[in-house]
Amino acid sequence: MCGINGYVGEREAAPIVLDGLSRLEYRGYDSVGVAVLQDSGEVSIHKRAGKIGDLSSELTDRWPTGKQAIGHTRWATHGKPSDANAHPHADCTGRLVVIHNGIVENHQELRRRLGDEHTFASETDTEVIPHLLENNLKDGMNLADALTKTMNQLEGAHAVLAMSADEPGVIVAARAGNAGGIVVGYGRGENYVASDLPALLPHTRNVVFLDDGDIAVVRAKTVEYRNGGRPVTREPQEVPYDPVSVAKGNYKHFMQKEIGEQPEAILDTIRGRANFAEARVDLEDVQISPSRLGSIKRVVLVGMGTSLHAAMIGRHYFERIARMPAEVDNASEWRYREPVVGPDTLLVSVSQSGETVDTLAAMELARERGCLQVTICNGIGSQATRMADGIVYTRCGLEIGVASTKTYLAAITALYLLACHIGQERGIIDRERMGGYLEPIAHLPYLAGEVLARGAEQEELAHEFARFDNFLFLGRGIHYPVVMEGALKLKEVSYIHAEGYPAGEMKHGPIALIDPDVPVVAVVQKGDLRAKMINNIEQVKAREGTVIAIGVDGDDELEEKADRTFYVPETSDLLSPVLTSIPMQLFAYNVAVRRGCDVDQPRNLAKTVTVE
Ligand code: F6R
Repeated sequence: MCGINGYVGEREAAPIVLDGLSRLEYRGYDSVGVAVLQDSGEVSIHKRAGKIGDLSSELTDRWPTGKQAIGHTRWATHGKPSDANAHPHADCTGRLVVIHNGIVENHQELRRRLGDEHTFASETDTEVIPHLLENNLKDGMNLADALTKTMNQLEGAHAVLAMSADEPGVIVAARAGNAGGIVVGYGRGENYVASDLPALLPHTRNVVFLDDGDIAVVRAKTVEYRNGGRPVTREPQEVPYDPVSVAKGNYKHFMQKEIGEQPEAILDTIRGRANFAEARVDLEDVQISPSRLGSIKRVVLVGMGTSLHAAMIGRHYFERIARMPAEVDNASEWRYREPVVGPDTLLVSVSQSGETVDTLAAMELARERGCLQVTICNGIGSQATRMADGIVYTRCGLEIGVASTKTYLAAITALYLLACHIGQERGIIDRERMGGYLEPIAHLPYLAGEVLARGAEQEELAHEFARFDNFLFLGRGIHYPVVMEGALKLKEVSYIHAEGYPAGEMKHGPIALIDPDVPVVAVVQKGDLRAKMINNIEQVKAREGTVIAIGVDGDDELEEKADRTFYVPETSDLLSPVLTSIPMQLFAYNVAVRRGCDVDQPRNLAKTVTVE
């Protein structure tokens, strides 16, 4: 969602901030703005609906000069995307500016309280913040104290940056709750603030992730932190990313690049954790005693979107590998139920970003109830990793395409390892059984590469099927979440209507949709459920439907049953979702490209969803 970037130092700030914002474009946005504290001592604000490139073109030959700036990409919540609603927002004097991520839940009441002496220029909830700051500054406070007081007046979760012409050389940043992160980047004689790492990586890898309640006072040479009104120490950490890893290179799209990086992502997730020689799984950030793990009676997995689909696959792992009762739910539903959980529940949250508001809220609820928590996460230093008792990082590097791909397959792999580890620590997996689980995972990166090597067939399929407007995806057992994800990928990047169903459900309604214009994508795995899937395919064919089957190498009978087939190599039943997911990603990508869609930044979508 909204992107935040700020700079204070010796260089011209506006181009740095706009460049940083362009590296956050993947988060999703509809308007953009920058405020520069000019050398003349005035604040100059430039903002508009549209893309960063539009603003940069507008500024050509008249860049505001100044060594300090804050910038924002907005994803509209209150007030439509428009020039006026774009951030930064100023107070009445125009000397104080604010950018914000989150929702001021009590903004109407605050507007009323601010009264007639404050003039508002937008429909946003955010605009109350500079006006509250203006009032608080009148009480003789400095900007940091005024922001501390202001944050206490706001309801909801927020990430805020503010600067004032009356306090040159300072940017103040605040994080309250789970409205997305704020990262401070340390340069030499210059410092940065951003909502996410890609904006910082061209300049520095030394960063501090703000904690809930933190205020950072950022100057060119120093950064001070406080929390709850008291100074606190935050030591910078070095993040293991480099700017090259977030560049598109020769690929046309990040999504294409990230699909191609999946064998490596799986390998990196396994590396150093699966000990093939000793048939053990040891997870460096899951240091939970066997007795605590032994006290767990059931597992609840939560996530949203693609991460929920990974969690649905993870449920099979906990049941079948660790032999533990497991259930899975959408985090935003689970958090508003009255889930009966306690210290004997393990909550496994799955989140690429580690900043998804509903997933964090579910974790918060689990914390209140005393649950043990492990998170499967890609976002180093993210809020989810700070809340959980254990972490399995997916080690994918940054994922820039809005549609998750490599982090999805890595999350499935991580869940598999976690179930193996917990089963091992609870003493229910002996060495021989563990060997049986580890043997196929050793081949997984190579087999994923094999599927990618067959990508040309996918391009042909996409060529043929890109004209259809509705698709049905069917799968059974562990491939039910796989088809849910296949349908999600297709709809989010190509705007085609697609539904994923457990194939057994087909006759209970979806079969009414079958006709020659609604192609059906069916995953046919080996084993007990194969015959059932073949029956489903027959039923579709009997109604003149068109079937694209995703099957396992050697299942030649599929050629006769389906209209088109795509084969993946054989692996264990439990790990097969990793391989069957790849053709669906490629299909969605190729169809979207053929339809001319903006694959990396699909309309209305945001990479990190920090509002409900
Ligand atoms: C879809 C996609 C989203 C995310 C969802 C959760 O391709 O990426 O559905 O999976 O917004 O985000 P995280 O995983 O960051 O919690």
